[in-house]
Amino acid sequence: MVLQILTLFPEMLSGFADHSMLKRAQERAGVEIRLVGLRSFGVGTHRTTDDYPFGGGPGMILRADVVVPAVEWAMMHHKVPATVLWTSPQGRRLDQDWCRELARLEHIIIVAGHYEGIDERAREIVGGTEVSIGDYVLTGGELPAMVLVDAITRLQPEVLGAENGAAEDSFGEAGGWLEGPQYTRPEAYRSRAVPAVLLSGHHQKIREWREAQGLERTKRRRPDLLGGQIDG
Ligand SMILES: C[S@@+](CC[C@H](N)C(=O)[O-])C[C@H]1O[C@@H](n2cnc3c(N)ncnc32)[C@H](O)[C@@H]1O
Repeated sequence: MVLQILTLFPEMLSGFADHSMLKRAQERAGVEIRLVGLRSFGVGTHRTTDDYPFGGGPGMILRADVVVPAVEWAMMHHKVPATVLWTSPQGRRLDQDWCRELARLEHIIIVAGHYEGIDERAREIVGGTEVSIGDYVLTGGELPAMVLVDAITRLQPEVLGAENGAAEDSFGEAGGWLEGPQYTRPEAYRSRAVPAVLLSGHHQKIREWREAQGLERTKRRRPDLLGGQIDG
């Protein structure tokens, strides 16, 4: 899978992409994470990437004649046609089901906006889908892009490994429930003991306990996931 991120600030993302699970994804799971600097596509001697909004107003807008050539250039990097995702607080809200769909794709280009956003014509020309990571506004699309990359790559089978399968996690395959509480050493800490069943070695009982805990937690915290209503 090829994941390309178009950003004004590739250096903000390189450290993140080169550590932990994303590093493993690139080394073992055939994932290529490619950071493309929009600055290289800037226009004029100063490689300008943004300009004032027509009609006035605050902030700067990323130019379509910078972003479109950058996306088109990135598209040529891989023979499989790319799905283009535009990070935007106005986009479709990202959730685990959508991540699962995205994880099956071969080639994704993510465009990180900045300043006040991107000239509307860029997306009209290139096509693709706007993705929001939640109803709040960030200064740029770099973090949303990395959220996408992280959520997508961890679903590649080779990344977490069988023993850490994403299916067990919240919003996993088990019907979209939350995962229950988890514990590690020490067995007792500040007078709080780990639930005895987890120390029993009885796999069936442990599985049942975890399912019950996950269901209970989901009922309490996110009844909407079970088709109920959220109180308050
Ligand atoms: C300050 S925001 C632009 C907000 C835009 N003027 C608006 O009102 O919708 C700058 C960039 O940050 C990114 N961004 C901000 N919040 C986001 C969110 N919740 N989800 C995805 N991307 C976001 C987008 O790439 C956006 O172009």
